[in-house]
Amino acid sequence: MKSIKIFAPATVANVTCGFDVLGFAVHKPGDEVLLVESDAPGISIVDIKGDQGLLPKAAEKNTVSVAIKAFLEHLNLDTGIEIYLEKKMPLGSGLGSSAASAVAGVFGVNELLGRPLTVTELLPFAMQGEMLACGEPHADNVAPALLGGFVLIRSYDPLDVVKIDAPNDLFATIIHPQIEIATKDARSILKKSLLLRDAVKQWGNIAGLVTGLIKQDYDLISRSMEDVIVEPVRSMLIPGFEQVKAAALDSGALGCGISGSGPSIFALSRSLKNAKQVAQAMESCFQDLDIVSDVYVSPVNQQGPLIIS
Ligand code: HSE
Repeated sequence: MKSIKIFAPATVANVTCGFDVLGFAVHKPGDEVLLVESDAPGISIVDIKGDQGLLPKAAEKNTVSVAIKAFLEHLNLDTGIEIYLEKKMPLGSGLGSSAASAVAGVFGVNELLGRPLTVTELLPFAMQGEMLACGEPHADNVAPALLGGFVLIRSYDPLDVVKIDAPNDLFATIIHPQIEIATKDARSILKKSLLLRDAVKQWGNIAGLVTGLIKQDYDLISRSMEDVIVEPVRSMLIPGFEQVKAAALDSGALGCGISGSGPSIFALSRSLKNAKQVAQAMESCFQDLDIVSDVYVSPVNQQGPLIIS
């Protein structure tokens, strides 16, 4: 029987001002998915590790199987696939956990089948996993998990994604306070209409951030990392957010904000040394608040999914 094991990375969606349109991948944490081709048609989840028994094994309820099913249906195939999922990152953390599983699944099946589609063509199927997870097929986690690096979702209809060249010496610090926020809930509290002056500020910032990344202009990156629309609402769900953000910026981070829908908070730094200093400062802030947290420091992951075996 053919089999393949894939790692797909965690991702930081939104990157402050780019709600639903910008994300980047990191090297750790991430999910591992083992896929085994089977004689019996149909997709089944045989085992899930690392989820504390929280994720459903029913194929129609899990992001990895739903994404694989959409992909196989598109190709008109009834290939049997057994899935062994190892969650290596917290659920409901704002690190793109559902996206990593879906991406590992579709990327792996595409490899098993001899690459009938390009990696970019896999994106709509991975997005089906997000649809299941939070009711919206947002692509700002799945696109960077699949393509690596920073990815801009220029348009959803038609889908138009652009990988952005970013400086090599950009490092992410991500801190995950051990509270859980469901993306669905974090989306439901957002305002449905905006003031034009806020929209102007936000699109100025997102254009500035993308330009700063491409031009390797760190000052421009830094002053563009501001979210006047989503962060003011969602930060209320994260105890200590303002203190942790201030600690990151005081320690020299270029910018700091909520990772995806939270509760994780991310910062970008210009060197590994600074990213580690930022990690310490953020961690000690949560310690002072008696909130247990995990912290990750990683360069931007340019590659995306990795074939483990
Ligand atoms: N753009 C999505 C949101 C990302 O902020 O709801 C979720 O990880």
